[in-house]
Amino acid sequence: MLPGGGIGPELMGYVKEVFRCGGIPVDFEVVQIDPISSGNDDLDYAITSIKRNGVAIKGNIETGSLDTEIISRNVALRNELDLYVNVLNCKSYPGIVSRHKNIDITIIRQNTEGEYAMLEHESVDGVVESMKIVTSENSERVARFAFNYARKHGKRKMTIVHKANIMKLSDGLFLETARRVGKDFPEIEHNDMIIDNCCMQLVSNPHQFDVMIMTNLYGTVVSNVICGLVGGAGLLSGKNYGDHYAIFEPGTRNTGTAIAGKNIANPIAMLNAAVDMLHHLGHKTHADILSSAIDKTLNVDGIHTPDLGGTHSSTDVVQNIIKYVMDATKSMKWF
Ligand code: NAI
Repeated sequence: MLPGGGIGPELMGYVKEVFRCGGIPVDFEVVQIDPISSGNDDLDYAITSIKRNGVAIKGNIETGSLDTEIISRNVALRNELDLYVNVLNCKSYPGIVSRHKNIDITIIRQNTEGEYAMLEHESVDGVVESMKIVTSENSERVARFAFNYARKHGKRKMTIVHKANIMKLSDGLFLETARRVGKDFPEIEHNDMIIDNCCMQLVSNPHQFDVMIMTNLYGTVVSNVICGLVGGAGLLSGKNYGDHYAIFEPGTRNTGTAIAGKNIANPIAMLNAAVDMLHHLGHKTHADILSSAIDKTLNVDGIHTPDLGGTHSSTDVVQNIIKYVMDATKSMKWF
């Protein structure tokens, strides 16, 4: 468990409380990361811990500093663990008022290269070069993951998002690779869309999309747009996968520093990350119990924090969820 900064620690406290009350059989090794540490000991320790446990649940780590010596801990973790794909399932909650109803879109994002290569330098005074790295190997891995994901989940359509009209070599490679991989999945229709148009289409007609695949920076922008469409930063979770490890976290990766300690942060995104983690660990029954408790709290009882237009506190939401989880796990013990 990497609590991170801002609201991360309080949200992790809720996860632990729900797990404790529901007797959910997961022990947490808590690892703190210092966002502005000059050395890398904290990062090395976190990486060792995740390698040992195979899986992590994570809050976001603040990366506000412009000091080039301080690297983003979030990016470094993903790169070191080779978590090359990020999956965000964006599904509307019927009980939450939002701009569009019945959205069900999956975003699959390349998670370790592209514009996040962190290779920047000032070649001459006043001229900065920033490298965007696209490799055929990573494009192929993420495209294969995406088409396999679509096949496994019965999805019928894939949209490849790019800016290959301008970035002809880098985005061109990503686009061509995804198109080529798509030929191995004839039952899945695929089209492509330029990122600018994609953002406009998302806010005006999101129902045309099913699964979307894109490079790293477009992925974070599009993820935030869709999270906004279904209810904001406090709801959805994101999954980071590589061949060996997985990290689960809130989908938009915000820190929410301004609302920390006020008992108003929405705990749902982190609890959904816990559901994802339970599925990954094979605790399907407990994952379903927690997921159902979240669903009833939001859609039936209407217990909503202020970001969703409600008046309830974070702890009201958590206590309501705990009530359902305890009811369900108590009755489990009779069988
Ligand atoms: P922020 O942390 O200020 O959050 C954006 C908005 O969402 C705020 O209004 C916040 O109150 C709200 N919010 C976030 N989580 C919430 C929750 N659980 N419940 C209710 N409201 C919630 O976002 P910002 O400024 O984008 O990022 C802060 C830090 O996170 C920076 O250090 C940045 O580097 C890092 N970060 C942000 C990412 C992003 O996609 N926005 C991605 C990666 C890192």
